[in-house]
Amino acid sequence: MTADFAPSDASRPHVARVYDYLLGGKDNFAADRAVGDRMLASLPAVQLGVRAQRDVLGRVVRYLVGEVGLRQLLDIGSGLPTADNVHEIAQRIDPATRVVYLDNDPIVLSHAEALLADDPSAFVVDGDLRDPAGILANPGVRKRLDWEQPIGLLMCGILHYVLDEEHPAEVVATLYHALPSGSYVFIHHLLAIEDPAAAVLQEQMRAGLGRAQFRTMNQVRALFDGLKLVEPGLVIVPDWRPEPPAIRDHPVLEMACVGVARKP
Ligand SMILES: C[S@@+](CC[C@H](N)C(=O)[O-])C[C@H]1O[C@@H](n2cnc3c(N)ncnc32)[C@H](O)[C@@H]1O
Repeated sequence: MTADFAPSDASRPHVARVYDYLLGGKDNFAADRAVGDRMLASLPAVQLGVRAQRDVLGRVVRYLVGEVGLRQLLDIGSGLPTADNVHEIAQRIDPATRVVYLDNDPIVLSHAEALLADDPSAFVVDGDLRDPAGILANPGVRKRLDWEQPIGLLMCGILHYVLDEEHPAEVVATLYHALPSGSYVFIHHLLAIEDPAAAVLQEQMRAGLGRAQFRTMNQVRALFDGLKLVEPGLVIVPDWRPEPPAIRDHPVLEMACVGVARKP
């Protein structure tokens, strides 16, 4: 594949690179570290939160591939490659599992292309969640996945970057409509809760990254409209099918919820 993505601007912070910095990665620039440092200064436990996010993503992939038996995943807002990527977890269960990563960050795309160059079952495509019709029409998305068979749609840590005025409910409904029956959807979403630390985090993400829209549990539940949540339903991150050893009772872990649902 060729890297024909737009050149990235290192002077502006990007979501994926700030997240990479908080995860202890090296694919970030000074502007990203400055935003990450401000988040760490006001909420030192934020790194625990991002690690918990990666952990629950892993649990969900193992559930979808290992228990439900899905063999194709579409990961929207995949982020920079890091330890235990979705395709690595899935392919440990079945090497033939197809994974399509989609992101709108040019650095994510070029790193993922390099990582996946020799992998016959994992691919990366350029796309924007706010343009679901564009995603569904993307030849990479159409060609790499079998739209007659159930698909696992992963939206981990991305919907809180889709603002209310960008109509997240319509965005997800367009995607859900296209999914074959028996498909599954995973959402991880930052929560609007009483804890003042959540409001501070949201403000810092807005100031540093230009956008953030935390939502209540009920607002996130509404994003599963038309689907059936599987057990244990929509819960805070550490409560979704926990695996020992796990840190389960830190306040930062109450700032995000997760749910997995099936399309009837
Ligand atoms: C916080 S990272 C999450 C990475 C990974 N899903 C995880 O949970 O570990 C969010 C990712 O979503 C991407 N992103 C944000 N808004 C997006 C959009 N509208 N369309 C596509 N990707 C987007 C960012 O570039 C970033 O890579």
